[in-house]
Amino acid sequence: MNSTSSTASRPSIDAKRLTASEGLLLLVTRALDRLKPGQVLEILSDEPSAHHDLAAWCRLNAHKWLETPAAPAAGRQVFHIEKGSALRILIPAELDWGCHAEIKDGRFDTRDWLVGHAAEIRKTALQSDGFAPRGAIVEEGSPDFTFDVVDRELAWNESAADFYEQATAGHWDGSRDIPWQKMTALDAELERAVCQLMTFLAENEFSALYVPAKWIARIHPHFSETVLFLSTQVRDEARHIEVFVKRALVNGGGLQFSSASTQASLKSLLDQEDFIQASFLLSVLGEGTFLDLLRFVETHAPEPVTREIARRTRLDETRHVHFALTHIRSVLKAEPALKTKLRAAVLNRASALSGVKGLNPLIDESLAILAAGGLSPDRLPEGLRARAGLYAMMHENRVKRLVAIGFAEHEAAELSAMHTPNFM
Ligand SMILES: [Fe+2]
Ligand SMILES: [Fe+2]
Repeated sequence: MNSTSSTASRPSIDAKRLTASEGLLLLVTRALDRLKPGQVLEILSDEPSAHHDLAAWCRLNAHKWLETPAAPAAGRQVFHIEKGSALRILIPAELDWGCHAEIKDGRFDTRDWLVGHAAEIRKTALQSDGFAPRGAIVEEGSPDFTFDVVDRELAWNESAADFYEQATAGHWDGSRDIPWQKMTALDAELERAVCQLMTFLAENEFSALYVPAKWIARIHPHFSETVLFLSTQVRDEARHIEVFVKRALVNGGGLQFSSASTQASLKSLLDQEDFIQASFLLSVLGEGTFLDLLRFVETHAPEPVTREIARRTRLDETRHVHFALTHIRSVLKAEPALKTKLRAAVLNRASALSGVKGLNPLIDESLAILAAGGLSPDRLPEGLRARAGLYAMMHENRVKRLVAIGFAEHEAAELSAMHTPNFM
């Protein structure tokens, strides 16, 4: 205890010449915080006003003012206060006082913050814990929040802290890290195809930003690793929107067309009202399919700017897809019946979108033109073959991902075939 000569039976502080307005009450308050109700604090003081002020303060704060014994020989005053039962906070023994997190090679990794009460992951988070960080002691009477996702089974992801570390280490700068100065003039049809693809990519990225952003606000902060990771995903998608739009604008082509079918497909993702279903449709099926799309753009990019944009965004997307795969695989392992719900999500979405036409034909054409390097009749057949290869690859990899999270091969093939033609 500060300025103390405490023993187990009689904690003591030396207040010297402090008056109430100079910090005497703060000193006494903090000393009493460390005691249990009924324990007695001894206060040594050389300030004449302390007697009157401390006695009055005790009455106001429900502590017991004990009769002052005779002053010791040194001429100093000695007061005794018995701590009352109205707890301002819990005593340190009930907090994590003295509980250190481990620093490894100078790093404090987020996965290593699971210490003390912060390591206790509740089966169901308490609405009254609200925004208090996991491990804090929450005062009774705090308001009940209304988070939707409160079950550990749905919101907790063992690997989220690792994915969060990868994400923060992997952040890049859309203004500086793309070799914008290497942009060169392109054949007009090729530039138009690239700009159409960039427009399409940017609108898809908006849904990839808004969907996790919507869920962040609905997941209980108790599962903070999941919330922190999703916040990095939102940041990534913002950067993806930025670079796709910049690529459309940098070479004079400009933003192109957005189709109603694309908008309908993306709206159906945002309209999902179940966290696991939304995450499954967006990240396993949609962003998973985008991995192949981005690799295709990277492979066939006509210049280094588009190539680097596709490469960097694909690396970020890989993290988003793996996070969701890890998460949903563990959810399905704990609750295999949820597979039916995920399957229903794909069927319902397919049926809701059955009235709208498939992929924007401008995207279909642009992919072939990109792979052909333009509209040259000599090279168009190769562009069309590459595009067909892309679609086959998208299906094949979707099936693999569905199998990886626990679907049987035939179910995976059926679900993949029903996935939106819009890719995302
Ligand atoms: Fe993205
Ligand atoms: Fe993403």
